[in-house]
Order: sequence, then structure tokens, then C-alpha cells
Amino acid sequence: MNVLGIETSCDETAVCLIETAGDFGASFHARVKGNALRSQAALHAQYGGVFPNLAKREHAKHLVPLLSEALRQAGELRVATTPQGGAALIPLKALLAREPELFEAIVAFLLKHERPAIDCIAVTVGPGLEPALWVGINFAKALAAVWGVPLVAVNHMEGHIVMPLMQLDAPAEHSDILKNMRMSEVLLPALALLISGGHTELVLSRRFLEYEVIGQTRDDAAGEVFDKVARLLDLPYPGGPEISRLAHEARERRLTPDFSFTRPMLKEQNYDFSFSGLKTAVRKLVEARAPLSDEMKMMIALEFEETVADVLVEKTLRAAEEYGVATTILGGGVSANTRIKEKLWSRMCNEAVGGALLTTSPALATDNALMIALAGAFRAARGEYADPDSIVARGTLPLA
Ligand code: KG4
Ligand code: ZN
Repeated sequence: MNVLGIETSCDETAVCLIETAGDFGASFHARVKGNALRSQAALHAQYGGVFPNLAKREHAKHLVPLLSEALRQAGELRVATTPQGGAALIPLKALLAREPELFEAIVAFLLKHERPAIDCIAVTVGPGLEPALWVGINFAKALAAVWGVPLVAVNHMEGHIVMPLMQLDAPAEHSDILKNMRMSEVLLPALALLISGGHTELVLSRRFLEYEVIGQTRDDAAGEVFDKVARLLDLPYPGGPEISRLAHEARERRLTPDFSFTRPMLKEQNYDFSFSGLKTAVRKLVEARAPLSDEMKMMIALEFEETVADVLVEKTLRAAEEYGVATTILGGGVSANTRIKEKLWSRMCNEAVGGALLTTSPALATDNALMIALAGAFRAARGEYADPDSIVARGTLPLA
């Protein structure tokens, strides 16, 4: 099955075309035929976070060029000898009434190109920024209507769960590295720690594609607190990689902080998280020690990263133990963090808890359309298509 994935929930605009074969499980294979992504991070950096209306405008501007790029990589961008679309394009004007620029670009694209070989379109419908989600949804609806293919509504967080399930097939050549993937063996029950800019969740899965959220953050998400602490340290957005880099440098220089942060929520017998107190603790320290030397910034980054990692790992292990988990999945943008991954894996090994650990590469941990295409393929295989007339953006769409 050829699945086109579209992602616009936050500040990455992404389009990906995959070809899948086999059933959900170890026989499932995917070939990435085209994968195009454009990050708006640099643009939002001046606001210190994502600015929704700017995100929406940028998605509208880049979706058609990214679609062209993904199809070109896949060998599916074919210029038509006669104009395509015709009457089928008329309803698009109403559909894209709020995105006139996107309407013009999509019509020009559809008139010029042949219909690619696509069996369905998977689009993120939530959670995320609603104005941003709508652009992707309307774009997907327009393509689905003109090409006559069904739509699959994808939960962005399910994308973050399924991405680590895929492993690259041993590449024959380096250039093949992103092309062929197969699913790992996933023993159930599985527990996913999802850590991203908008979410921090522990999700239990007793059956494939069925979820129970057993814990979540009560305030800031893990990524959000990395970004906010980065701002306190005058580091650019997104802050996660920057904090991580400084913490690494502190370790290299063997710096030892003369302060420590309380590990929040560890005394509570539940799987919830809270990071706003930690953010306040960092702010107070920053004020008390101002002006900060470079070494002081490194030590704050180090101690902050260790604190977040300790809390995430401890709660994950407790849940893994309680539920007798056979597979632990680490997903979401913050899972690109090496320290969190290392800490989780070393404790899982030492304490023989949590079973196998599945993670993904940093490039696929952050938002992308491949994960949306994969989740879409699994849902499509179950016949779970969406009615184009009732598909809506849902900013707070839950997993279960
Ligand atoms: O999953 P994602 O790309 O977007 C959302 O769905 O929110 O996650 C983005 C978040 C940002 O907050 C970013 O700072 C964080 O992931 N992040 C990291 C690292 N790389 C990205 N956080 C900690 N360490 C990293 N290496
Ligand atoms: Zn995400």
C-alpha cells in the first residue's frame, strides 16, 4: 500500500510517501520513497516558542513545494501532457477559502501533474495547534478529493509511538539508510514514555494500537521545560538540543555543581509528572547567581537534564514493574536526548525491568511525516478510514 503522510501540527511542515507490505508485526515492512520536511524553528526562535498564526502561514506556503519534493524523490512527480483535474478542482475553492495562497498553489500543481500512485492519505488531526492542523487537513482533503483516495485521520502521539517500532533494515549502501525499515518484534504489554514539546505521557498498550494513558504531566511538558529553561539561560529555541550540548560539555570538563534540584513528584504514588516547580527553581538560581558565567550555565544545564532524566526514568521503571511490561518504547522529540536514553537503558538492564527498549534516531524522534504515514498505514490496514466531511482538527485529541 502506498501511503502519503502529512504533518503540520506544530512547527514542522512535512510530507512523506511510503510503500508498506505485510501485517502489523514482524512481517511489516516499509520503504520510504520520498520524505520532505521543513522546520520553522529558526523563524519561531525570535518569539522563544511557536507562534500559531505564523506556523499556519508557513505550512500553507510550504506544503505544495514539499509535496512536489517528496513525489520527485519517489519518482512520482510526472508532468501531465494534458491539463489534469478540471471540474474536480472547483470544490477546492470553498475548501481552501481560508488559505487562498495554498489554493492557488495546489490548483497550479494539480493542473500540471499526473495523479501519483497513492492508495491513501494520512493526515495529523491532533493534538497540536488547531490553526496549523487545519492547514494540513484541508490540504489532505483537497488532494484526496481530486485524486479519489481515502483519508486516514492520525493522532500525532500515535505517530510518536509507532516510529520507534521500526528498525532500519541493514543498509547495503549508506544512501539507503532511510529507505527500508521493518517492524521490531513487540511483546505486549508495552509501555511508551512519550516526551515532546507538548506532551509528557506514560501510555500502556495491552493490545496493538490500543492505549491507556496511565500518567501525564500536570503542567509543563518535558520539551516545554527544556525550551523554557533554555530561555532562562539565553539559549536559542528549540532549547532541548542546546541544553543537552551544554550538559555534555559540563560532563567533559568534569564540572560539579554546588547546588541541586529536587526531583519532582517522586514521592507521589502515581505516574504523573510536574515540571513547573523545577522551572521556578532554575529561575531562582539564575537570578541568585547572575550574571552567569559560561561554566555556571553548563552546570545548570547538567543538573537540570539529570533531574528531568531521573524523574522520567524512575516513573517509567515503576510503571514497567507494576504492569509487567515486556517492551518499553521511548518516543517524541525529547527522546532525541542521549542522557535520558542512556539512563533509561542502564536502569532497565541493571534492574531487569521493562523488557526490550525501542527508540528511534534523533532525526525521527522529532516531528516528521514518516511517523504519520506509518500510523496511517496501520489504521488503513484495519479499514479505519475517515469521513472527509466530518474530519476536524482537535487541538487536545487524546490517545485513548
Ligand atoms: O516531538 P517534537 O518534535 O514536537 C512536538 O510534538 O512537540 O518535540 C519537540 C521538543 C522541543 O521541546 C525540543 O526542545 C525537544 O523536543 N528536544 C529535545 C532534544 N531535541 C529536541 N529535548 C531534549 N534533548 C534533546 N536532545
Ligand atoms: Zn511531536
